[in-house]
Amino acid sequence: MRVAAVQAHRLWAPLYDSCLNPILALERRAMESVLKPLQPCRVVDVACGTGRWLPHLQNAGSQVFGCDACEEMLYEATKNHSLRGRLALADAERLPFRSSAADLILCSLSLGYFQRLDQVFREFARTVTLGGVIAVSDLHPDALAAGWKRSFNVGREKYEIMHYSRALEEIGQAATDAGLRCRSFEEVSLGAAELPIFQRAGRERYFESAKSIAALFIGVWEKPCC
Ligand SMILES: C[S@@+](CC[C@H](N)C(=O)[O-])C[C@H]1O[C@@H](n2cnc3c(N)ncnc32)[C@H](O)[C@@H]1O
Repeated sequence: MRVAAVQAHRLWAPLYDSCLNPILALERRAMESVLKPLQPCRVVDVACGTGRWLPHLQNAGSQVFGCDACEEMLYEATKNHSLRGRLALADAERLPFRSSAADLILCSLSLGYFQRLDQVFREFARTVTLGGVIAVSDLHPDALAAGWKRSFNVGREKYEIMHYSRALEEIGQAATDAGLRCRSFEEVSLGAAELPIFQRAGRERYFESAKSIAALFIGVWEKPCC
């Protein structure tokens, strides 16, 4: 069954943090090394979902805020007491933060759900301070072209999440048009660290072919001071 993004995450929310998902594991591994050197003071996580990244950043000393368009995902995030009062229900196209509120904007595994990419990048650019950084990860277009799905199961029902397929150039152009400068852009594939997840899910036979495909991209942009 194909379901619109926010509706899908309503159903997925209670299971999201407990599912065996090699893409979440890979994103964590790859994004961690991107974020480590940044040491931001104020972080806004756009489409933060269940708040997967926020405690990690809090523990590293950052003041964190998150927003998401799905109440049920945010409800899961509020189970972590340290996030209470730090989360807002909002669409990525209209961020509920004042201009220059963050040194780092994080947007993980969500870009493909946003309708107006140009508007979202403009909001990123408005919300980040001069010299601040925007780190975005998402499923790689090659993975989608190879037939990978944005999907999840609830019981025996499989749900496919509706999304926008975009070329990397289109994403880069939206960032440039918003006045942002690319700092780095990585294309990341699954590796040995994710093999145990395939094994636990009984899907080891798919691992070799899966790891030959670019699974994710991680783009880092900055708002230039001049
Ligand atoms: C796959 S989850 C990723 C959550 C989290 N960033 C993570 O990495 O675990 C995608 C998230 O995007 C949110 N989302 C979808 N469309 C949105 C929109 N237009 N504005 C804000 N959030 C949106 C969903 O509710 C969901 O929480």
